[in-house]
Amino acid sequence: MSAKRSSIHGQWSSRWAFILAATGSAVGLGNIWRFPYLAGENGGGAFVLVYLVCVVLVGIPIMMAEILLGRRGRQSPINTMETLAAEEGLSKHWHFLGWMGVIAGFVILSYYSVIAGWTLGYIFRTGTGLFVDADAAFSKQMFAELVADPEKLLAWHTIFIIMSVVVVSRGVKSGLEKAVRFLMPALLILLLVMVGYAMSTEKFMEGINYLFIPNFEVLSHKKFFADILLPALGQAFFSLSIGMGAIMIYGSYLSHKSSITFNCFTIAIADTSVAILAGVAIFPIVFTYGLEPAGGPGLIFVTLPIAFGQMPFGTFFGTLFFVLLMFAGWTSSISLLEPAVTWLVENRDMTRVKATALAGTIAWLLGIVTIFSFNHWAFSFRFAGVVKENGFFDIFDILTSNILLPVGGLLVAIFAAWLMSRSSTVDELGIGDGPGYKAWRFAVRYIAPFGVIIIFLNAIGLFKVLGLVE
Ligand code: PFF
Repeated sequence: MSAKRSSIHGQWSSRWAFILAATGSAVGLGNIWRFPYLAGENGGGAFVLVYLVCVVLVGIPIMMAEILLGRRGRQSPINTMETLAAEEGLSKHWHFLGWMGVIAGFVILSYYSVIAGWTLGYIFRTGTGLFVDADAAFSKQMFAELVADPEKLLAWHTIFIIMSVVVVSRGVKSGLEKAVRFLMPALLILLLVMVGYAMSTEKFMEGINYLFIPNFEVLSHKKFFADILLPALGQAFFSLSIGMGAIMIYGSYLSHKSSITFNCFTIAIADTSVAILAGVAIFPIVFTYGLEPAGGPGLIFVTLPIAFGQMPFGTFFGTLFFVLLMFAGWTSSISLLEPAVTWLVENRDMTRVKATALAGTIAWLLGIVTIFSFNHWAFSFRFAGVVKENGFFDIFDILTSNILLPVGGLLVAIFAAWLMSRSSTVDELGIGDGPGYKAWRFAVRYIAPFGVIIIFLNAIGLFKVLGLVE
């Protein structure tokens, strides 16, 4: 009986260890770097509102489903899907879902590590007082200089991949748990300091209005589905670390006594709060210093140093901020590696250390493509009504967040709510067959999958072709 299964890779020492690790995975560059720049590119408040709806209606139910599957299978996502499919009398080809996750994990990690490398670079830049009294032009120029230098980017990227490999190779408990315990609360405090600074800026209210008041004018002339819903949905998946097996593998180390529902809500609330706080810290600075909200991936690296250059003890706070951001990226990157590593250990009989080194090397190599996207190989194209200037990096990002993760989530939802027997999910979720279970099942059975499908069909313009929408 699957309820008795245990993972060969270990188990979290407590419920809080799981919550912290999963929050560590969820809270990362996605919240502080990606969320604000996407909100800035895709219409501010309208994007934020749609994002929140996606988190509640699609993200949380799918996260619960993913943890449920992970805990029931207790293996790498590939083997978990194969085992559970066999148990439910379904095709073993369901392991394909695990494979898709592993591929998405490599691609995300490859560029994630390059961006995390920028944060490493910025630790030293702020630490040496480079930005004291800096103006917007100087900050912009500093960022441009960094990304124009592939050798530097490669050095930081390499360091970050090695850092991730070291933690993952040590396994769940000794590696992961320790890292997150202090770092998450520290990051939260620092973000509050930044919000405090933002409150003192001239255009605080302008930033807040931009972030929280949906501009329906933007909605009407933007293509709502392709330009707002798809990126917002993608960000919900990316930010919650769902749709690729990261949360599934973390769920596989979770004790049977722990409540999936409580854990999921806690993680999602923490994740969303950090993203919103990052937005509140950044947009007032953007407006106060006359910067462009649609500044793209460089947004926080241009805006925040200006603030650090102005505020008291800015060099100290700035350095600390980038250190913590690097840690937030670190605790996320390890969850991107974990699904592939566990599969290599299970199926290729490798030691964890060897498996991690191999997986890390693949992501490292792929990362070189992203590095060149910001300089020698840069090209631009239009996506979601926005000009994307960093060719392959943007393609990797869109391919994973807007396609692979939602498709992965869609398949998780179909598996858990349509194919798995009701009794299995009731048993695994552990909240009985009452209203809570029914609400979850309704969300995973109808809202999440149909939501994802409708957004996709609209985004690829199928409804237009069929004449169903204008
Ligand atoms: N959730 C992470 C972030 O917001 O930075 C990124 C991430 C981690 C995405 C793990 C996907 C994943 F599986």
